[in-house]
Amino acid sequence: LVPPKVAGSAGGQTAKDAAGNDVKASKWIETHKAGDHSLVQGLKGDATYLVVTENNEIEKFGINAVCTHLGCVVPWNVNENKFMCPCHGSQYNAQGKVVRGPAPLSLALAHTEITDDIVFLTEWKETDFRTGLSPWWA
Ligand code: FES
Repeated sequence: LVPPKVAGSAGGQTAKDAAGNDVKASKWIETHKAGDHSLVQGLKGDATYLVVTENNEIEKFGINAVCTHLGCVVPWNVNENKFMCPCHGSQYNAQGKVVRGPAPLSLALAHTEITDDIVFLTEWKETDFRTGLSPWWA
């Protein structure tokens, strides 16, 4: 018997919007279209991107916005379909994998989980599917 899951029990926390409110998945999907990458406050207060999939669902992973070079928050560039750091020009693809330095590493990942329509972020300790390596941030 698997006990009912307690939301956020794995050290996670709710994603918060710019006003500090918990992010509701249904509302997010109504207001963010497929392919959207928008910021929430995530684990440890780090700015984290939620991604909307082509099926209009919240992607199973969130992408930490903190540049792995010197820590600027990296904006999403819709036209280029990349994250482009304004500080020293590092670039990351739509999944946050580094494609141009000086950033040495890809953006960190977090799991997203939806419980009772609230979006939770939990630590990503598994292999980084973008690189096949252990997560450098765990
Ligand atoms: Fe992002 Fe330097 S902090 S490229």
